[in-house]
Amino acid sequence: MNSILSDSRFAGIEPFESRLWISSPTMHGEEQAWVDEAIRTNWVSTVGENIDKVESAFASYTGVRYAVGLSAGTAALHLAVRLAGEKLYGQAGPGAGTLAGHKAFCSDMTFDATANPIAYEDGEAVFIDTEADTWNMSPEALERAFELYPDVRLVVLAHLYGTPAKMKEIRSVCEKHGALIIEDAAESLGAKYRLGDAWVETGSLGDYNCISFNGNKIITGSTGGMFLTDSKEDADKVRKWSTQSREAATWYQHKELGYNYRMSNIVAGVIRGQIPHLDEHIGQKRAIYERYKEGLKDLPVQMNPYDEKNSIPNFWLSCMTINEEAMAPDRRGETEYSYQSREGKSSPDEILEALAAFQAEGRPVWKPMHMQPFYRSAPFITAGGRADAEGRSLAVGEDIFRRGLCLPSDNKMTPKQQEKVIEIIHRCFA
Ligand SMILES: Cc1ncc(COP(=O)(O)O)c(C=O)c1O
Repeated sequence: MNSILSDSRFAGIEPFESRLWISSPTMHGEEQAWVDEAIRTNWVSTVGENIDKVESAFASYTGVRYAVGLSAGTAALHLAVRLAGEKLYGQAGPGAGTLAGHKAFCSDMTFDATANPIAYEDGEAVFIDTEADTWNMSPEALERAFELYPDVRLVVLAHLYGTPAKMKEIRSVCEKHGALIIEDAAESLGAKYRLGDAWVETGSLGDYNCISFNGNKIITGSTGGMFLTDSKEDADKVRKWSTQSREAATWYQHKELGYNYRMSNIVAGVIRGQIPHLDEHIGQKRAIYERYKEGLKDLPVQMNPYDEKNSIPNFWLSCMTINEEAMAPDRRGETEYSYQSREGKSSPDEILEALAAFQAEGRPVWKPMHMQPFYRSAPFITAGGRADAEGRSLAVGEDIFRRGLCLPSDNKMTPKQQEKVIEIIHRCFA
């Protein structure tokens, strides 16, 4: 028997009968109809009506002029970075990426798919620390990075867990330094941000914008992604690159490097069936966040924060951090961890283990990129230095990673199931 299940602190709690996921696909039925229609009409390819419909639906939802359906959010980010690199530094030949010899600034606390396209294009990522108000790229650290690396002209930024970054400040820093912005809105589809008097969608705030339909996202196609822009020329280029860069000739003619990144009409059928449910999913995720906030308010913890005046997150994942004074010992190596229980305290790994023992899936907060073995030699810039006089790290992302965790946030989780999750967390602090 799992030792947690025999721990007297958890007496009387039964494991969930089936696993409670952090965020899993939620199908409604229309998806099947559009997939069937594609098969019935033999459009089982990377062309077809489902693709056309989802492209126009997301251009109109996000308020951009052009959308290109791709095989994944990562593909969208790669082509966005390639496009930016070509725009800034010219076309690359066969032996090098468009960012060869150049640096680009990138969110630090994010999934690695945000950063990897910089490496695909042979650029060097400079990671920008996180701010505590939204858990996204710190505008102050970004400004400092421009002071240190004044030649940089590209910023790749994500909206973590569906919470918009401080875009007004970031756009103003980028404008001042003449830098392009690639917005990674993979996790934030449907999240809104206030610009002046207008509410605008994430996915429309950068020069090039990317969304994802990965199986864990707010709506899904099983996989899939989309590139969004106001430039017809750029959209046409991305569409061409994504279909092997074929020129207008009867034979296969190539002037540019090509990719097989186009969205499938079957995947687009699933996405098409999900579109009418996007706002409903956001409503469910918001209700989950609010229930955690209420249910955990008597504990020494904080929910992942957002700017209530200027943003409306999509609440994709609910997260929490444990207050410093309530942190029990928890040590993390490269892939292993060990924690100790303390009365009245707990730790992310204790809570995650307890949830897992009862069949509920949580996850540590995304480990910052500058802490990843692959990127450990990359420059990393904070708003105010790396350590205080006692040698304690001043990196905000490191602190959130140490004290934070992502909670089960599946939109099919019932209030009763969530009550049990909240109870398990309480017992961890007993
Ligand atoms: C922030 C972020 N960027 C990019 C991606 C990549 O998207 P995809 O899985 O569709 O390639 C993901 C998730 O998968 C993500 O969470």
